[in-house]
Amino acid sequence: VPPQAAEIKLNQNENPFDIPRTLKEDILREALCIPWCRYPEPNPMTVREPLGRRLGLAPESILLSSGSNQLIGPVFRAILEPGDPLLICRPVFSLFRKTALMEGARVVEIPLTESFDYDAEALLRESAGAALTVLCCPNNPTGTVMDLFLLEKILKRTPGLVLWDEAYAEFWGQSAVSLIHRYSNLMILRTFSKALGLAGLRVGFLAAHPTIAKQIGKLLMPFDVNVFSLLAARRLLEVGSYIDLQTRKIVRSRNSLAEALKRIPGIRVVPSQANFILFRAARADALFEGLKKRSILIRPMNDYPGLSDYLRVTVGTDEENALFLEAVNTIQKDMP
Ligand SMILES: Cc1ncc(COP(=O)(O)O)c(C=O)c1O
Repeated sequence: VPPQAAEIKLNQNENPFDIPRTLKEDILREALCIPWCRYPEPNPMTVREPLGRRLGLAPESILLSSGSNQLIGPVFRAILEPGDPLLICRPVFSLFRKTALMEGARVVEIPLTESFDYDAEALLRESAGAALTVLCCPNNPTGTVMDLFLLEKILKRTPGLVLWDEAYAEFWGQSAVSLIHRYSNLMILRTFSKALGLAGLRVGFLAAHPTIAKQIGKLLMPFDVNVFSLLAARRLLEVGSYIDLQTRKIVRSRNSLAEALKRIPGIRVVPSQANFILFRAARADALFEGLKKRSILIRPMNDYPGLSDYLRVTVGTDEENALFLEAVNTIQKDMP
């Protein structure tokens, strides 16, 4: 039983489509033939090489870890001295702020605009004094994005480094990866947990100039990714085309889910380029609870300052999306 069991689980921005059974069986067959008594590869070339080819990068530019979350701490530790200014936007994935505080950084927050867009002027101004600027694009929890030209301006202006988390890049269809060839102060976080559908196996990576990757690599624990996850990640990279089709399907579903949500009275939708949608509801708490009673789990936003009227829903399968919409419609209609 998964830790947060619900019949319809739309709360963690996961891929609703599991790895096809035939592919799982292939992976399991191969797993039977590798020795489990041996440590995994120390610098897993079997994944870094094909990943590098896919992204147009040398394997030396890629650091793997058991989920991209695991890389945030080492990146901060490598770059920041206690009290150094770290710039983040708000609201953003909460782990950035939490990790920054654990590392003793001085967190400077820039609010997104009223429409949850990036405030270009404030970002350019503040990044000029930041040791590290952290940007998330598409942004979790808003799904909004930043123009890559603005990222380039920041990269040129800041004396520090920029950590760009693009966990949801595949759903946006754009990526900053090629900028690594031009900007040695850019570090990019990516994950196998979202479009690639491997959240349970925990594989993520950092892409950066080889010199930066080497320095951050020194702070990682050895053998971070286990033999089974490495094997699954490699096999998944070999069958990329089904993933691309699936991503396009999720994007189409996101767009129709957003359109349908917009039509429900009392709901305001934030346009999203990710696999989730942030929306405002007149009585967000009651809607969340009503959905939960129907075993539909979405994400309340009341731990994000200023977002207590908002909810975030992950794009599910067609059937899940339809059941979610039907439930929202019913609950909203019956709301006093
Ligand atoms: C912006 C962002 N980065 C990273 C992650 C986590 O990635 P991983 O599963 O690779 O640790 C998430 C997960 O929700 C996320 O929203």
